[in-house]
Amino acid sequence: MSEFVEIFEVGPRDGLQNESQMIAARDKIALVDVLSSAGFKRIEVASFVSPKWVPQMADGAEVLAGIRRAPGVSYAALTPNMRGYDGAKAAKADEIAIFASASEGFSQANINCSIAESLERFAPIAAAALADGIPMRGYISCVTDCPFDGPTAPGQVADLAAKLRAAGCYEISLGDTIGQANPDSISAMLRAVLKATPANMLAGHYHDTAGRALANIEASLALGVRVFDAAVGGLGGCPYAPGAAGNVASEAVAARLADLGFATGLDQAILAKAAQMARQMRST
Ligand code: HMG
Ligand code: MG
Repeated sequence: MSEFVEIFEVGPRDGLQNESQMIAARDKIALVDVLSSAGFKRIEVASFVSPKWVPQMADGAEVLAGIRRAPGVSYAALTPNMRGYDGAKAAKADEIAIFASASEGFSQANINCSIAESLERFAPIAAAALADGIPMRGYISCVTDCPFDGPTAPGQVADLAAKLRAAGCYEISLGDTIGQANPDSISAMLRAVLKATPANMLAGHYHDTAGRALANIEASLALGVRVFDAAVGGLGGCPYAPGAAGNVASEAVAARLADLGFATGLDQAILAKAAQMARQMRST
């Protein structure tokens, strides 16, 4: 039997957050409902961030209220602070994610605080999530390159991953936020992270700006990573990372994993339909 590799679908959040034209909640809900039937086990559907910072994500509660929740699927939301956590909990997100940066420049640009301050901000979220029994994932942005600070030292990522793990994250998603990584820089970063954090607690989150995300996924597979974030239709980017357009497309990752002999449990025909829907939602 083929070994299982999970694709964590982030399109409705990481994909759509970058769209400048407002997308109606009903269209987001329709996309999530199709994704739910494609076989994903985790789908990130919302972000409880400041609507002044990311207007497109202001309707997270409406989206979570409107989706048809498939049994066994975890619907996730980003939470930058306690206000976001309270919103995600009230909207019945199945899991939440805190998001930090390995570089100071991106931390300031994205969440308006230093790395150390962000960890202080996350501490009450972690305590509340633990008390409420809500699983918490952790993101690290700019794991190899930062649009403001240049190359990121692998040790910096390893240190932050260990801290997020200690804070209670069940999995750490390693973000090549601006898609500038290559198999060598991804491997060097992963080797450093793996000294303190096991591969089964890691996910690769690679944007495809330079067309290297699939190669970076293959390099990560060789080092034992078995979860990859992707966005259907290749939607996405981060509004606070110049040049971050394009998450790696879920359907491309699924096809490459199938070629490599891995099972993803995804229905390629439904995925193709979802990709078409996602592309129609794009303003550019
Ligand atoms: P701030 O301006 O320092 O915070 O922003 P503040 O506490 O002064 O709040 C500013 C305003 O936002 C206030 O409103 C707050 O009430 C409100 P005002 O008083 O001016 O009317 N506010 C909120 N509203 C709703 N929900 C909330 C919330 N918090 C404050 N939770 C803050 C700090 C963290 C809030 C802001 O910087 C922010 O929202 N940043 C999020 C940016 C973002 O969402 N980026 C994209 C996601 S990360 C990403 O894409 C990377 C990833 O994919 C991995 C990778 O690829 O690397 C995960
Ligand atoms: Mg991202």
